[in-house]
Amino acid sequence: MATRNDTRTDDRTSGEDRSRSNRANRSNGRSAFSWGSADTATILGAAAAGAVLGLAANYGRKLIVQGVSGIAGDWDEVLKAEHKMALAIFDKLLATDDSQTFKRGLMIKQLTHALDKHAHEEEMVVYPALREADQAGDADKLEGEHGYVKTYLYELNNMEKGNPEFLTKVRQFRELVAEHAKMEEEQVFPLFKARLTPEQNAKITKLVNIDGLLQA
Ligand SMILES: [Fe+2]
Ligand SMILES: [Fe+2]
Repeated sequence: MATRNDTRTDDRTSGEDRSRSNRANRSNGRSAFSWGSADTATILGAAAAGAVLGLAANYGRKLIVQGVSGIAGDWDEVLKAEHKMALAIFDKLLATDDSQTFKRGLMIKQLTHALDKHAHEEEMVVYPALREADQAGDADKLEGEHGYVKTYLYELNNMEKGNPEFLTKVRQFRELVAEHAKMEEEQVFPLFKARLTPEQNAKITKLVNIDGLLQA
């Protein structure tokens, strides 16, 4: 039976394996980006095939849900459109009054889904790519803020929707999301995108779209 210590040793070994593999990649002359490797292409192809086959039954629904975010534009434009959609939900929420508890409940669910899908795309594709491109500090800061996004969602989902403090919390939450989105749109993403080759950029767009389709 595996002990705690055994597990730790395994973790350490796999960490060493990973760093060996990283060194091997570098010694092959690859850049910090590995988006163009054959392995990635194979995984991407399999993911795309899986997405098409596995989701065929409700593909239409997902495309509709995906809406503007999954159809056109580079990855950063997709994410920007999603920021805009989330902020629009906030504004509709802020226009409710304390008697509209059912509507608030539905809108919080809608906001939770939108932000969860968005965070997943960033955390599974864009932030790891930022770390590979020596922007780990930015990626860590942004991912840390996603934790507070989830905290607000947790609190609002579990709060009485007629509570007089409800809108105050929504307003604070909106400020956090707007600031976070601004940092991504105006600082972090442009800096990163400027250093991508067209192929790397296209690959990130494809990965974000696949992730979004799977989350929709
Ligand atoms: Fe983000
Ligand atoms: Fe974002």
